[in-house]
Amino acid sequence: MKIELNNTADQLTYPNEIQVSQFYDDVINGLSAPNKYLQSKYFYDVNGDKLFQRIMELKDYYPTAAEMDIFSDKTDLLISAITANNEEEFDIIELGAGDAIKSQHLLKSLIKDKISFTYIPIDISKNITDFLSISLPVAIPDIKIEAINADYLSGLEIALSRSTNKKIILFLGGNIGNMEPHAAVQFCKEIQSSMAPGDKLILGIDLKKNPKRILSAYNDSTGVTKEFNLNLLTRINTELGADFDTSSFDHYASYDPISGACKSFLVSLKKQVVIIRNEVVNFEKNEVIFMEISQKYSPNEISHLAQLSGFKLTAALYDGEHDFTDVVWTVE
Ligand SMILES: C[S@@+](CC[C@H](N)C(=O)[O-])C[C@H]1O[C@@H](n2cnc3c(N)ncnc32)[C@H](O)[C@@H]1O
Repeated sequence: MKIELNNTADQLTYPNEIQVSQFYDDVINGLSAPNKYLQSKYFYDVNGDKLFQRIMELKDYYPTAAEMDIFSDKTDLLISAITANNEEEFDIIELGAGDAIKSQHLLKSLIKDKISFTYIPIDISKNITDFLSISLPVAIPDIKIEAINADYLSGLEIALSRSTNKKIILFLGGNIGNMEPHAAVQFCKEIQSSMAPGDKLILGIDLKKNPKRILSAYNDSTGVTKEFNLNLLTRINTELGADFDTSSFDHYASYDPISGACKSFLVSLKKQVVIIRNEVVNFEKNEVIFMEISQKYSPNEISHLAQLSGFKLTAALYDGEHDFTDVVWTVE
């Protein structure tokens, strides 16, 4: 079942002062850098969440369908990799859960099999965590859910402090690709060091493939990806009192098949000045803002990532087209 964010989302997000001042500092730092950038974690406000749901429905955006294929068709394999015939109660912690559209298959099957667990989705979007807390118990009666509205690692720390149960951490949707490869190694190492022997990480990773197919996924002809990127400028206008004219920016996506880096940019269509509170940000014509990386990996690069971050590969599941993989890594 697809959870509709549209109906209740508008009532839910009220950023607090600390979040707003962090958002402001991050935006000013990014836009004052020699190569301007914005952090992609800020894409996800109420509108950004809805736009991302529309992206996931695009025909060209293959990662969602591919990972859905794994979660809906290979649920039994996932369950046996997770439980390994162990009947202890465990916590499923999902980092950047979004609308949990894929993990719901796993959660439903676990409930059906009467396997005892608590689901702890962590998301930076309060809209999402509020929504999951309300909607999942309706979609999956009997689920125990404790959502945490936080950044990945601070949310993980809270989740780990709450129980001594065995942990299964989900990090799906290729979100790991939103980190540069060196940052991904560091992130996986940090997760690994917070886990106990026997705990598992299920990591969704988008695979290198025909470069044209990858580029189409991030450069859709309907313009939703452009809208998603521009929405961050609108969010800066609304929450930080800036005056971006979104019609003066275009979206550009690139993919380098050697490095596997797919990058999104906004391009200033003219020389212009943007005011954000007391800060003045100058844009030259054709100057870009780097918005997001979606890094793609080969199977060998994934093995290397597991090795560098201290995990043992327990299972690797693929969709029918081998577009995407969900690997199960264990802490020994
Ligand atoms: C691309 S969506 C993917 C959602 C889901 N994992 C899936 O596979 O469908 C990314 C989600 O991660 C959340 N997110 C992004 N950066 C985050 C961060 N630094 N900490 C916590 N959540 C984050 C966003 O709010 C969004 O819900």
